[in-house]
Amino acid sequence: PRVAVLAGGLSHERDVSLRSGRRVAEALRSAGIEVSVHDVDADLVPALTQLRPDLVWPLLHGASGEDGSVRDVIRLLGIPVLGTDPRASRVAWSKPVSKTVVARAGVATPDFVTLPQSLFHELGATQVLGLLDGRLGLPLVVKPSRGGSALGVSLVTTHDELPRAMVDCFSYSDTALVERAVAGTEVAVSVVDTGDGPRALPPVEIVTDGPYDYDARYNPGRTEYFTPARLSASVAVRVGEVAVIAHEALGLSRISRTDMIVDAAGEVWFLEVNTAPGMTETSLLPQSAEAAGHNLGELYRSLVLASLS
Ligand code: DAL
Ligand code: MG
Repeated sequence: PRVAVLAGGLSHERDVSLRSGRRVAEALRSAGIEVSVHDVDADLVPALTQLRPDLVWPLLHGASGEDGSVRDVIRLLGIPVLGTDPRASRVAWSKPVSKTVVARAGVATPDFVTLPQSLFHELGATQVLGLLDGRLGLPLVVKPSRGGSALGVSLVTTHDELPRAMVDCFSYSDTALVERAVAGTEVAVSVVDTGDGPRALPPVEIVTDGPYDYDARYNPGRTEYFTPARLSASVAVRVGEVAVIAHEALGLSRISRTDMIVDAAGEVWFLEVNTAPGMTETSLLPQSAEAAGHNLGELYRSLVLASLS
């Protein structure tokens, strides 16, 4: 089959996406698949119309990629697309909505409120602090309600850190997700479905000496990863279960990655799910797949073959 990989685009995660696209294309080629890589711009529709690939694999991170809008366009062209359909993509892309859906499926997720930028300005920092103190206390994590790669994410441990965290966040999204910070081990579980149902890959434990921010994610050596994560047997099973529950509850297809915190008592807290998980050289899904003994080219090829219709 001929596969068109989409990468780049205009989101804040453009560079990450270009790296993901390049890596996936290389791996697919090594497995004998014919691949073209397209930097997404206004020429996408004419290019795909002319090329008529058998499958499009969007490796677009961030808005317009993960919110399902580009997938909508490709679907209109009548070309099969690898991964989650546009509607489920939109739901998963919103952190508050996906947290609510996954919580309903019986998974713990840190308490949160959403705060539109307009309301923050209307009420002012002091009143918002009072409100958050009543609801969540400190420490808090402030995140763009839609976003990726930890851009615009801050840990707030004292009141005077809140205004700055809000301003950072609102430069990426017009709504903030303000979440109770749960202390513990950061763990990510990727899920793949090559045609026989969603399967959890080994959990990856993330160890950084500061926040797991954009720099820590994409500069080799900045973060230490343990795959499989150093968890008790029962917690290791639970994180895999949570990733599959999230994948199924949100109606995701083929590939996803769920990010979680395991607290000191062994409770697993759902943070978010990624429908276009990073596939760069420092990203978690490829590390986890290799740790499980997969050849990346073969695994991606299986995902492609399962997605042809
Ligand atoms: N948003 C980045 C690409 C990730 O989740 O890996
Ligand atoms: Mg994410």
